[in-house]
Amino acid sequence: MALSSLFSPRFLAFILLLSAIPVAIIVSLERAQPATNVYHYHSKGWLRECSKWDADNNRFIVSFIEGGLGVVPVPEKEDSKVPLEEVTVVKELNLGRNSSFGLTIDRTRNRVLVVYADVLGHRFGAVGAYDLSTWNRIFLTQLADDEKSFANDVAVDAKGNAYVTDVKASKIWKVGVDGELLSIIRNPLFIPKEWYKSFIGLNGIIYHPDGFLIVVQTLSGTLFKIDLTKGEEVKVIKVAGGPLLMGDGLELLSPTKLVVSGFVSRLVESSDGWNSASVVAKFSGIRHRIATTTTIKDGKVYINHAAGMGYPRKKHAIVEAPF
Ligand SMILES: *[C@@H]1O[C@H](CO)[C@@H](O)[C@H](O)[C@H]1NC(C)=O
Repeated sequence: MALSSLFSPRFLAFILLLSAIPVAIIVSLERAQPATNVYHYHSKGWLRECSKWDADNNRFIVSFIEGGLGVVPVPEKEDSKVPLEEVTVVKELNLGRNSSFGLTIDRTRNRVLVVYADVLGHRFGAVGAYDLSTWNRIFLTQLADDEKSFANDVAVDAKGNAYVTDVKASKIWKVGVDGELLSIIRNPLFIPKEWYKSFIGLNGIIYHPDGFLIVVQTLSGTLFKIDLTKGEEVKVIKVAGGPLLMGDGLELLSPTKLVVSGFVSRLVESSDGWNSASVVAKFSGIRHRIATTTTIKDGKVYINHAAGMGYPRKKHAIVEAPF
């Protein structure tokens, strides 16, 4: 469809009619009080894929679908009735309409890493690193080449290497501490047997302090362990109560407890160093806002929701999962 016809009055009327019923449902869902703690914040954008709690600076850091990063400061004296405010801190002008997705805080080096991707064209992908105090850019590394890709999430190991998942081709880019592209991790295990499960491939990724990565594949629901101490050896983690279908974001609650967030968020526990694991709890918060990634604040699990709502000002919700 031509872009201009998207904005014709007839088209808008049609969309309004189509969406009248869902809107009514959404309004009632929005009015319902969630049982757990929620951080609401006013935002300039409709879509925020990732937010991470920055404990040292008492704020959330959020990634913008329109590209860039914002901070959402949380005051000492919290008042749940007053929405927080998002402030833009990073905007790369020459990245045009590329979106920002997964982000991670590298506390050791006082910086944040964020992934950029061209969602519609699948032709551009990058990872940027920024100083947490000044927001000065430390590096901005292009990842994508001719292969169509969709860079999505990032994790950082103890040495400062970054690992960026490609949700389209199910591979992982490895980027050095100064931003140099080092290698690409590919493995036959990353290719699901059913062709249709490869549409949304490797997605959420985290670094475990014992020297390995954990990564989830969204449509197959498979969890992988990539041992960096054994030459990036890849193994499937056997998950009782799995597969972790539609798993999106990952975060460690402790070395033995992993949160896998998404349409349904799950708490997964392992007692053998992540060779096997089991689902011990599930949570689906406010579904109509599309749960994506997860973060830990004061020992509690919070789920980011991509869709902002509200008029005249868009409001986003970061919802506590009672794990
Ligand atoms: C993404 O950024 C690259 C590099 O600056 C640019 O060439 C490309 O046009 C951008 N893509 C979009 C969709 O804006």
